[in-house]
Amino acid sequence: MSTGRGSFTNRLGFIAAAAGSAVGLGNIWRFPYEVGNNGGAAFVVIYLCCAFLLCFPIMVSEIAIGRRTTLNPYGAFTTLSSKRWGIIGVVGVLCGFMILSFYNVVAGWAFGYFLHMVAGDFDVAKDFVGYTTDFWDNLFFSMTFMVATALIVSGGVQKGIEKWSKILMPALVAILVFLIIYALTLNNAWSGIEFYLIPKFDQISARTVYTALSQAFFSLSLGMGALITYGSYVSKNENIVSSAAIVTLSDTTVAFLAGMMIFPLVFFQGLQPSAGPGLVFVTLPGVFETMGPVMGPLIGGAFFLLLCFAALTSTVSLLEVPVAYAVDERKWPRKKAVWVLATIIFIIGLPSMFSTGAVDFFTNFIRYGGSTHDFLSVVSDVFSDALLPLGGFMISIFTAYRWKTLNLSEELAMGYPGYKGSFIEMFINVMISFVCPLIIGSVFIITVLQKFIGITIF
Ligand code: PHE
Repeated sequence: MSTGRGSFTNRLGFIAAAAGSAVGLGNIWRFPYEVGNNGGAAFVVIYLCCAFLLCFPIMVSEIAIGRRTTLNPYGAFTTLSSKRWGIIGVVGVLCGFMILSFYNVVAGWAFGYFLHMVAGDFDVAKDFVGYTTDFWDNLFFSMTFMVATALIVSGGVQKGIEKWSKILMPALVAILVFLIIYALTLNNAWSGIEFYLIPKFDQISARTVYTALSQAFFSLSLGMGALITYGSYVSKNENIVSSAAIVTLSDTTVAFLAGMMIFPLVFFQGLQPSAGPGLVFVTLPGVFETMGPVMGPLIGGAFFLLLCFAALTSTVSLLEVPVAYAVDERKWPRKKAVWVLATIIFIIGLPSMFSTGAVDFFTNFIRYGGSTHDFLSVVSDVFSDALLPLGGFMISIFTAYRWKTLNLSEELAMGYPGYKGSFIEMFINVMISFVCPLIIGSVFIITVLQKFIGITIF
């Protein structure tokens, strides 16, 4: 197998990096508003079932496939079977490319908001559109973010990805805890928690399940081989099953805690919690402004710094997927792969940057499913909402029927001596062979029909 491609120092290194990949904008920006709009605690319960019952077995499989082959997703699938199955890996690498292209733009907004907050010149009146259509500002912010990502990835697995995950993740938790404590002391904090957590069963429908599963896939970084790639750097004597459980738990905990911070802030000012995607970039800055000239920049700055840290360990994992492909398959030196790919991805992201009003063509890019979509949403709909579940479906089919659960068990038993014959083995095998393909496959079909063709099923 390829040597010199790097590996994590130990279990903690892998867990920090994988949790870093999972914890991102999906947790702090997307999860809370999905909960707010989809029935509060009832959604949280459904989400937890999706994460632990359906996503966890996929995560375990991805890591096992990576460790077995010590290769990038494309190399992994072709090594374990044939060139034809390599297509799952190719699509995965492409997803890494495209998701990073817009994710980096959103991360750039967060970075820009952070700088303006701490500089004390943040102007609420300028508004979300005002900030995100400011060409030079955004070019600078998102370029800086991409450069930071590239610098970390070019440091390699241990001295780049692992080292920075071990710094950024604890910092993220510290900021999050600080903000929750502060938020809970505000007036009306309790109404926020009530809104967040009291189950509203009348809002639960089949659609909730579909939203929860898509969110879980994105949030756990599944379906595109990010964890195949990270798994390829894991040593043979580590317990994949328990590491994956810790990563799933960390990701869901951070998502849950993000809601405990955001809703008290929103209710403190009596604002609408159902603002959707604008919750973080529109509603919250208004709240920070009302906190005055000292607390406003402090709390606002801490919040956007949190968002930047969360995003950075995710952009790192997104870039690592195509980089590993170029290193393994094209034999490029890591540094060359990093800088060439980061530059191309940055350029592909420019239309997403122009999607919020700067350029009309990209703002009203295309019509499908009954409404007009901007470029950024199109890329996100296709590569994240549709292709990640499709990737998850293919990975479960591949694992169960091509690679076979027998081989999966053999790989998982390394580092987990009691695995074979255990309840958890039976659970993973049943899920990956029957339940995951069935439910995840249906979610993929429903997404396509509903989003792209406009057929309302729920
Ligand atoms: N999991 C990340 C988040 O929640 C996004 C991501 C998706 C990262 C896919 C890597 C791969 O923001």
